[in-house]
Amino acid sequence: MDRPYYRPRRLRSHETVRSMVRETRLSPLNLIYPVFVCPGERVKREIAAMPGNYNMSIDQVVEECRGIKSLGIPAIILFGLPPSKDEMGSGAYADEGIVQEALRSIKSAVPDLLLITDVCLCEYTSHGHCGQIRDGDVDNDATLLLLAKTALSYARAGADIIAPSDMMDGRVRTIRQTLDENHFERTPILSYAAKYASAFYGPFREAADSAPQFGDRRSYQMDPANQREAIREVALDIEEGADIVMVKPAMPYLDVIYRVKTEFDLPVAAYQVSGEYAALVAAQRNGWLEKDRIILESLTCIKRAGADLIITYFAKEAAKLLS
Ligand code: PBG
Repeated sequence: MDRPYYRPRRLRSHETVRSMVRETRLSPLNLIYPVFVCPGERVKREIAAMPGNYNMSIDQVVEECRGIKSLGIPAIILFGLPPSKDEMGSGAYADEGIVQEALRSIKSAVPDLLLITDVCLCEYTSHGHCGQIRDGDVDNDATLLLLAKTALSYARAGADIIAPSDMMDGRVRTIRQTLDENHFERTPILSYAAKYASAFYGPFREAADSAPQFGDRRSYQMDPANQREAIREVALDIEEGADIVMVKPAMPYLDVIYRVKTEFDLPVAAYQVSGEYAALVAAQRNGWLEKDRIILESLTCIKRAGADLIITYFAKEAAKLLS
């Protein structure tokens, strides 16, 4: 009988050896938890399609942030549900806007938690699109000014990192210039560089009340069929001044994460989005998937593909499992 000469199983037979040769190690330091702030007091409303995630008023968010920090998670990304919406999304750049107020409260209560702000208008516009509308579509260049105003207003309220997610052309440059002109030259930009027009955002639109009232987002977010275009988008954002580049969603786009990681030398982030979370949780609840293993495997694989940072609704559970 021809016996195998090299036996890969030798290094798999003990957990000690397996753990010594493990190539990817997930840490709570890789994780960013998304937080949805809403008006009111003592509000903590579970998001139906995202069990374990809530719309919270600022007082509750502050409590949540203390918990997040104590789990060893270094950062959150904030989304706002404003008290009212209008055509221009003015709630996004109001000095007393919901995210601005939350930033000030969290900063003073939990100073060493890193605060990232998603910069986009879709939660704030009455039509639910990510910018100003002209002739039935989002007007790119008019929207840039509103995004820059929003970014500056978040930086002034205490945001540590600015994360534009709107997919307008040229927004990283406009935001960078505006921040620099106002002495926020040290505030990094984490750009949603390759953001796809994905059906996996379904539950988020309930969480952030941001579903478009007409049409869809395909005139600004990317076609899921395209990989080379992602490289072009990332290259542009880097030229324009992005410090970290993100791919979104994560698990169905591991090839994109991998290519971005190998072709550029900036840190890469990935967003395990609401629909990825909802699908995994639904299967767990039916007893079809093992909860803890699924959480750790999905996140480890996203990291293995090349993500240095992962935004995930599983952050708290993953941090507990990793401690
Ligand atoms: C805002 C934004 C969205 C998400 C993050 N920022 C929604 C969208 O683009 O439609 C999705 C996050 C998720 O699904 O978890 N533009």
